[in-house]
Amino acid sequence: MKHVQNIIVIMLMFVLLMTAGTVCAQTETDSDILVIYFSRTGEQYTVGVIDKGNTSIVADMIAEATGADMFEVLPEEDYYPYTYNALTDIALQEQREKARPAYQKEELPELSQYSTVFIGAPVWWGDWPMIMYTFFENEDLAGKKLIPFTTHEGSGLSGFDKKLAAAIPESEVLTGLAIRGNDCQNRQDNVQKTVSDWLSKLGY
Ligand SMILES: Cc1cc2nc3c(=O)[nH]c(=O)nc-3n(C[C@H](O)[C@H](O)[C@H](O)COP(=O)(O)O)c2cc1C
Repeated sequence: MKHVQNIIVIMLMFVLLMTAGTVCAQTETDSDILVIYFSRTGEQYTVGVIDKGNTSIVADMIAEATGADMFEVLPEEDYYPYTYNALTDIALQEQREKARPAYQKEELPELSQYSTVFIGAPVWWGDWPMIMYTFFENEDLAGKKLIPFTTHEGSGLSGFDKKLAAAIPESEVLTGLAIRGNDCQNRQDNVQKTVSDWLSKLGY
């Protein structure tokens, strides 16, 4: 009998521990800040073949510093080429056609939970990649603080802030950040400092 009681106590403790774990996990995702980003691996300009995208490196730094949740914009059908030149051709064609490539929605969190959304992507031909416009036009980001960030190889922020404000007029767009893609791979300490300084100035 004593043996059965012991087993019941151990099982109860196990259930309690599992419940506590669940509560902790929910608290971790209780943030009202979200980082949304698009980024490519494969062959990229000036850095060769990379297995973590430049913009995704900056996105991680922002999420780490602010405790934000994250969502990566991934194409529903990933037809983007692995080689740089082929990718630039497709991206240019999409821009000329004002294409609206579909993205995967399964992991998209409930956006109403967030008051601040950092939104990042590489500069593609002087603009947001077209898939980001699909996102802006499909999702409800109205009434939120939106903070753009980008990685690039010379073009800087490329008007990402103004284009974002035009795409989502009922939002408040804060000062954006532009980082060299090459620095994300090769000078991460510098990038980390730049990201931290920018976040501090914004009050995060
Ligand atoms: C399709 C394409 C177009 C690009 N156009 C520009 C551009 O107009 N200006 C610029 O500075 N960099 C441009 N780049 C370089 C990328 O912005 C840069 O390598 C960026 O860091 C890549 O980020 P990712 O690894 O997150 O995708 C382009 C790269 C690609 C693949």
